[in-house]
Formats: sequence, structure tokens, C-alpha cells
Amino acid sequence: MSDASQVLRLENVSVRRGETLVLDRLTLSLGAEVVALVGPSGSGKTTLLRVLLGLEAPTEGSVRIGEQLASKGGRVLVPCEERNVAMVFQDLALWPHLSVRGNLEYGLRARGVKPTTRAERTAQALRWVGLEGKESRRPHELSGGERQRVAIARALVLDPVALLLDEPLGSLDIALKEELLAVFATLFAERQLPVVYVTHDPHEAARIAQRIIVLERGQIAQQGTAAELGHAPATPFVEAFARALRSRDA
Ligand SMILES: Nc1ncnc2c1ncn2[C@@H]1O[C@H](COP(=O)(O)OP(=O)(O)OP(=O)(O)O)[C@@H](O)[C@H]1O
Ligand SMILES: [Mg+2]
Repeated sequence: MSDASQVLRLENVSVRRGETLVLDRLTLSLGAEVVALVGPSGSGKTTLLRVLLGLEAPTEGSVRIGEQLASKGGRVLVPCEERNVAMVFQDLALWPHLSVRGNLEYGLRARGVKPTTRAERTAQALRWVGLEGKESRRPHELSGGERQRVAIARALVLDPVALLLDEPLGSLDIALKEELLAVFATLFAERQLPVVYVTHDPHEAARIAQRIIVLERGQIAQQGTAAELGHAPATPFVEAFARALRSRDA
């Protein structure tokens, strides 16, 4: 049975690394929505994104992207480069030797997109994030916030089926975070695609996502809106998370 509105589906996904079960029979289904993924360090958040991306095969269970069976029981069936799932890494991983334009065009070129179309789509993506006029700069000639914008434009220019972000605003100050969260919120709302947003910041999670998923020891400890988590926290971690949210709101 499949529900066409669900773009990403993990069923009973486990990842074992040596003695450790990093993901433990995780079942999760995502449609066009923004989900914040939170949880203690080492709880498996990055591993979950890597499995969705196809960088890593689940030891057990299956991953479906749309109608495609992408991974199953120890094997990656659809490789990373054929999934069209975009990722923004914490360190952004921009190409240092390429200009802003070069960074954006890189993936389009790899897909054989024609030069004129490449130029159009790159210009459009730069408008989305407000970086017009900076296309010739290299990453080191940009501010931290501008680099963050390049990373997200580079992900979205490929018109992905889903977007994964691993602590994309981790190192920025509060004012800049606020500014970029507003940019992200607008971009996500316009796109109508599944977005998985990993963060350690409760405020950021509540600000960006309708649904917050709390991962603990490779399992979903609890999920819901910020209000729902605050109302009936299921674990000490969720309780601390909700408390942090309240203290910031106060
Ligand atoms: N390449 C690796 N080889 C072996 N173990 C790893 C590897 N990468 C991560 N782990 C282990 O897998 C577990 C989950 O790691 P993961 O990076 O998914 O956690 P996380 O929730 O993203 O943590 P953080 O919030 O610190 O980023 C941890 O116990 C970690 O030590
Ligand atoms: Mg991580």
C-alpha cells in the first residue's frame, strides 16, 4: 500500500555500526512538509540523513523515494547521484576554488543541463536567496550568512524532490540566524517539498517546522508540534527541550 502524498518513506530502518544500533527499526513517512529533527548528540540524526541521501545503506529495512525502492536490507539500490535529494551539510561544503556561480552550476553541469538553461536557473536561484550581483565571488569573499545562502541556493537549483539540512545555521549569531530562518521559511513554503531540518536549537526547530521529531538512541522518542511536546514531554530530553523553548519565549 502506498500513499502518493508521501515522498520519503523509511520502514523499519536499522543501521548497525559494530556493536551499536545507531538507528533502531525506524519507521517514518514524509510528505511536503518541514520537519525538524532534534535529539541528543549521537542519537542518529546525521546517520538518518545519510541513509535518505543514499550515502549509507540501512543494515535492515527499506527506503522509498516516491514510488522507487531506493535502499533495502544492506543495499543502496538507487545511488546518491540518482536520487535528486539535496543536502546542505553543516560545514556547507562549498567548492572553495569556484565562484558563487560556479558552485551553483556545478550540479546542473553534471546533469548535462544546457548552458543557457544553467545560466537562467542559476540567476533565478540567486534571486531566491538575495545574492544577485555576488555571482563572481569565491566563498572566502563572502560573509558567513552569504555562504549559507549559497549553500541553500545550490541545493534548490537542482529542483530536488526533498531537502535535507544538517545544522545549517550552527555557527551563526542569533541575529543572523533570525534573518536566515526567515529566508528559509519563505523558500520552504514556496517549494512544497519534504524538508528535514536537523538542529540542536529548540527555538530554531519551533520556528522552522510544523512537526518536530525527537530522535533518541536511534528511535523516535516523540513527535508533534512544539506545543504538543511541551504539554506532555515523553522523556527527560523532551522535557529539557520544552523548557528551553519556554525560557526563550518568556
Ligand atoms: N563513520 C562512523 N563510523 C562509526 N560510527 C559512527 C560513524 N559516524 C557516526 N558514528 C556513530 O554513530 C552514532 C550516531 O551518530 P550521528 O552522527 O548520526 O549522530 P547525531 O545525532 O548526528 O549527533 P550530533 O548531534 O552530535 O551531530 C554515534 O554513536 C556515532 O559515534
Ligand atoms: Mg550530526
